[in-house]
Amino acid sequence: MNLKTCAIRSAALYFTADPFLVGAAAAYHYESDALIIHENGKIKSFGNYDQEKIKLTPDCSLITYKDSLVLPGFIDTHTHYPQTQIIGAFGSQLIEWLNNYTFIAEQQFNDFDYAKKVADFFLEQCLKAGTTTVMTYCTVHPASVDAFFQSASEKSMRVIAGKVLMDRFAPEALLDSSAQEGIDQSVSLINKWHGKDRLSYAITPRFAPTSTHEQLESAGALWKKYPGTYIQTHVSENLGELNWVRELFPNHKDYLDVYDHYGLLGKGAVFGHGIHLSEREWMRLYETNSSIAHCPTSNEFLGSGLFDFAKAKLNGRPVHVGLATDIGAGTSFSQLQSMNESYKIAQLNGFALSSIHAFYLATLGAAESIGLSDKIGSLKPGMEADLVVLDLKSTPLIDFRMSHCKDIEEALFIQMILGDDRATKAVFVNGELSYEKKLT
Ligand code: GUN
Ligand code: ZN
Repeated sequence: MNLKTCAIRSAALYFTADPFLVGAAAAYHYESDALIIHENGKIKSFGNYDQEKIKLTPDCSLITYKDSLVLPGFIDTHTHYPQTQIIGAFGSQLIEWLNNYTFIAEQQFNDFDYAKKVADFFLEQCLKAGTTTVMTYCTVHPASVDAFFQSASEKSMRVIAGKVLMDRFAPEALLDSSAQEGIDQSVSLINKWHGKDRLSYAITPRFAPTSTHEQLESAGALWKKYPGTYIQTHVSENLGELNWVRELFPNHKDYLDVYDHYGLLGKGAVFGHGIHLSEREWMRLYETNSSIAHCPTSNEFLGSGLFDFAKAKLNGRPVHVGLATDIGAGTSFSQLQSMNESYKIAQLNGFALSSIHAFYLATLGAAESIGLSDKIGSLKPGMEADLVVLDLKSTPLIDFRMSHCKDIEEALFIQMILGDDRATKAVFVNGELSYEKKLT
């Protein structure tokens, strides 16, 4: 067999531990001159160029990147591909925004061809931003899931996605006609897509208010029946939403307890937002190994509130947190921009989020929060070869600022505060060059 082997020479960095727990310095591995050899979609070796170059073979094509940094491809742990067309919709907070914009746009996704066009565009935007894995909501329509998985499969991407379950409080055209119909469609989609290529299925009750008791119960039963699938939903994003949940579910301790009651907490359950959680809810997330997707640009855009890193990570019961764009309430595909806004949110909450914390949240931290850290989120040998090559001088301002930079942690901070998708020089997916910035 003619093995295809490729190698990259560049500065490179990946995380080996959670910096919130071990401190920044002990959390990452940086090589200022690294050689990364990958073969058949997997990383074969990683190390210092001078020490590793003996491993280069004549059939190995070596690409050298200067003024660059190779990182694991960014991971986006919460997004809505069908909302690409409503990014930047003016003027409202969560519930009004859902009714005025989201629930209108999502009605178009019963059309496979339309959904496929949007899915293709969405994933191209992800790659352009250096994001190689997303966990996304589709719409209530099975065609929206088929379109998304087909698009991801054509691009060899590792993704998680699922059909939204809703059987109340949304327009008729977006409702499952019965709780059972939503479950039957989910089962068909799991059988069709889960475990195929690099695709995984997420059972997706949108959020507690738009599902009846019966639907939440059947979602929990479905998850039990298909271990290895995921749960994705929203929790504690907006104060109006919290009041609504209290009215609809008066017998529960709090918002998270609604999901707990229906068996929707556990490893593989990813809850978007988690801004207004009580200590009891944080403890329950920790005890059940559930995860939070932190969506900074969305939280600012919808005026939802300030995520609290100290509560999430530093109370002796650290919860898995992954960074997320939450397109289309989120305003950028770029996880660098998510980091930028996350830093500012943390500042407003009295927490100084270092570059090491921020890049961890978009790579290894995100992979841990979606249970995939044995496959993606790092550059260790054996990992899947999903890589982003950042241009460290992507704009004149960044170039100038970098000339006054003392070390790698500051370099990362400059990139996350000033950088965006212009910083993506190249992206490798499963070992293949999938995006390359055009020279202007
Ligand atoms: N809560 C329920 N659905 C949504 C959604 O589509 N976006 C956001 N940001 N929050 C939600
Ligand atoms: Zn969301």
